[in-house]
Amino acid sequence: MPFRTTIEPFRIKSVEAVKFTTRTERAARLTEAGFNVFQLHADDVLIDLLTDSGTGAMSSMQWAAMIQADESYAGSRSFYRFRDVVADLTGFAHIIPTHQGRAAERILFHAILHAGDVVPNNNHFDTTRANIEVEGAEAIDLVIPEGRQPATLHPFKGNVDLAALEQLLDTRGAHIPLVMVTVTNNSGGGQPVSLENLRGVRRLCDRFKKLLFLDACRFAENAWFIKTREAGQQDRTPKAIAQEMFSLADGCTMSAKKDGLANIGGFLAMNDPQWAEAARNALILTEGFPTYGGLAGYDLEAVARGLEEVTEEPYLHYRIRSTAYLGETLVAAGVPIIQPPGGHAIYIDARALLPQVPPLQYPGIALVNALYLEGGVRGVEIGTVMFGLHPDGTEHPDAMDLVRLAIPRRVYTQSHIDYVGEVVSAVAARRDTLRGYRIVKAPAALRHFTAQFAPL
Ligand code: F0G
Repeated sequence: MPFRTTIEPFRIKSVEAVKFTTRTERAARLTEAGFNVFQLHADDVLIDLLTDSGTGAMSSMQWAAMIQADESYAGSRSFYRFRDVVADLTGFAHIIPTHQGRAAERILFHAILHAGDVVPNNNHFDTTRANIEVEGAEAIDLVIPEGRQPATLHPFKGNVDLAALEQLLDTRGAHIPLVMVTVTNNSGGGQPVSLENLRGVRRLCDRFKKLLFLDACRFAENAWFIKTREAGQQDRTPKAIAQEMFSLADGCTMSAKKDGLANIGGFLAMNDPQWAEAARNALILTEGFPTYGGLAGYDLEAVARGLEEVTEEPYLHYRIRSTAYLGETLVAAGVPIIQPPGGHAIYIDARALLPQVPPLQYPGIALVNALYLEGGVRGVEIGTVMFGLHPDGTEHPDAMDLVRLAIPRRVYTQSHIDYVGEVVSAVAARRDTLRGYRIVKAPAALRHFTAQFAPL
């Protein structure tokens, strides 16, 4: 296209009104919520960037497929349609639907892990880590050093540190049943993994006879980064690249709430027949019969169609460009972010933006609350509140204090994003006035969801 503007590659057929609130109203809602935006009524949020998970807009084709769904308990037509789409994309022999990503993780790890096992990953997402640790196993993050440095530019900051993986396989290989790679690397800023790196992980897995699983939630966004950044990949379709990514692995866990373009759903897929049988048996206990796995037939239809739409080039071009656009707007306003922009979100470095707020006074919370108060924008703290409390009861600053602005798929237009840019800029302009918070009340685990704060 000879034109500069990347347009949304869709027209809007159905709209949902957003509610405008005044600053006074938002101040009252925030106080009622204990200064924790997880506790807000979503109707009081104007632009909701809490997560890109399950918050996307479905296409008319997805809605149309849903009404044609088959709700049979066993052997539903919708299951076979779902299975065929997943098999075509991933090439895996066994495809097990689950109600979302963490259910796939729970079933896989419960079926195969033993106490004392070790599972490497570039960065484990928090539910992945928790589902490994609950089995008494250890989750180890082996992202490349650049992946831990917010300002460092690197095209594939999600890559696995191959030397570190080799060393771990060498020293503790007997306790490693599988290696995982998260594409894109959410906990590391939505950063992609290159095909070259995946091939390197594959070679190590072959040498040490280990299975390789992808945490594939954002596989299509990862494929787009490969197409646009990796030498020799420019002329391939995103789908062909995604197929190659999956072909390098022995299985995957998937939250279809991201690149499945659905509001709920997920799957576990693999080649190993024994692991698959153990997983199906575990599935029946908590999720349901293996042809629906905790989903309605219409959910399976929505995911099947979503997986086809998500690899379309106009969609991915718009998706990755619009995330980068928000990143560029913030950088222009002098706001420090994880560079380069990731696929699904922009991560603001709250610790760098608010140097007057020490980590144990929660700069991420200070920024999240200021963004809501300023313009009704909801982001999420990823830092000391989320990760700073340890099982022994001690509290330490996390490695970074970030605020994630995650972009729901196909929901907001460019003017919504311009507005978010203005709100962040306005907060950044009065950054010196922001103060920290103290925790008034919090549970012992996963405190970020329900903790109550008071401003200092
Ligand atoms: N793996 C990754 C990389 C994720 O980002 C998520 C969810 C999951 C697994 C779990 O999937 O939510 O369907 O059970 N991430 C969401 C987020 C919650 O906001 O980043 P789920």
